[in-house]
Amino acid sequence: MPNLEDAIKGSINLINEEKTTNLFSKYSKTYLFTTECIKEYLNRERFNKTKALTVLSSGDHVFNLICKDVYDIDTFDINELTYYLFYLKRAIILKLPLPAFKYITYNLGKDLEKDLKLLEILKDELPKDVYEYYRYIFTYCQKYQPDGLKKLIWGLAIYIGNDSIYLENIKEYIKLRQKLKKAHITFTFSDVLELPNKLTNLYDIILLSNISDYLYLKIPNFNLEHFKDYIKTFSQFLKEDGLLINYFIDNTNPNDFDITSLGKGIRNIKIDSYSEETYYLVRKPNVK
Ligand SMILES: C[S@@+](CC[C@H](N)C(=O)[O-])C[C@H]1O[C@@H](n2cnc3c(N)ncnc32)[C@H](O)[C@@H]1O
Repeated sequence: MPNLEDAIKGSINLINEEKTTNLFSKYSKTYLFTTECIKEYLNRERFNKTKALTVLSSGDHVFNLICKDVYDIDTFDINELTYYLFYLKRAIILKLPLPAFKYITYNLGKDLEKDLKLLEILKDELPKDVYEYYRYIFTYCQKYQPDGLKKLIWGLAIYIGNDSIYLENIKEYIKLRQKLKKAHITFTFSDVLELPNKLTNLYDIILLSNISDYLYLKIPNFNLEHFKDYIKTFSQFLKEDGLLINYFIDNTNPNDFDITSLGKGIRNIKIDSYSEETYYLVRKPNVK
C-alpha cells in the first residue's frame, strides 16, 4: 500500500507543475482508461485462469481479467497513484450503474463539490486511505487549482474506454460488479526492470502492457537484445502453457523488435494496420 502522506505530496507537486515532466515515476499522471485493445486480445487468446500478473495502470487490465474469470491477480506499477484510481473506479462500479460510471469518469474534476459528494456515496467501498487521498486532493483543487485533476489523470473529458469488456454493455458491467469482490489482488510498486527480483509466483498470464515502448527512457540505446532479455526474463515466470502478452503502440516499430525467432510460441499480432497497434504473444513451452 502506498504511503498516503507521500502520495498526497507527490500529487500536489504534479498539480502545481507547469508541464508534465516525468512520464512514469513513483508519482506521475495515471491513465483513466486503457489505451490497448485488451478486450480483443483477452477474448481472442486462450489462457488458463488461475493466476495473473499485470500492470495496474488504469485498473482496466485487472477489471478485464476479472471479466474473464481470473480472480488471483498480482499487479505492479512504477506509479503509486494507480492504486488510488484503481480503488476509485472499483468503488464506482460496485455502487453505481454504467451510465453513472461513464458520466462520472468523463466529468471527474469538473465540479469538485460534486466529486466530494461522490466520495461520500462511495465511502463504504473505498479503503480508508483512498477516501482520505481523494478528499484531500479534491478539496485542494477546489481551493487552489480548479483544473488540477487534469494534471493527475490522462484522458479526462476526452474519451471513454471502448477497449474493455465491462464497458461493452450493462450486462457485462453488472457481471463484473458481481465478480469484483471475489478477486484477490496484490500490489507491488516497482520499476518493471526490478520486478523480476521481487516475484515469487508463476503465472498463467502476464500482461506487460506497452512498457517496453518506453524502456529507452531507462536503458540507453534500448535495442533488440535488451528487448529479448526483457521478454525472456518475464517468460521465466510463466507456468507451463502460460501466456505473456507484450503490447506495442505506435511509437515503436515492432519490426525493429522482432523476437519471433526466439521460439515457436512467439507471435507478433497486428491489431490495426492504421494505428500499427501490435502485441507479442509468448507461450511458455516454446520459449528457449
Ligand atoms: C506504459 S503505460 C501506457 C498505458 C497502457 N497502455 C494502458 O492501457 O493502461 C502503462 C503503465 O505502465 C507503467 N509503467 C511505465 N513504465 C514503467 C516501468 N518502467 N516500470 C513499471 N511500470 C511502468 C505506467 O506507470 C502506467 O501505469
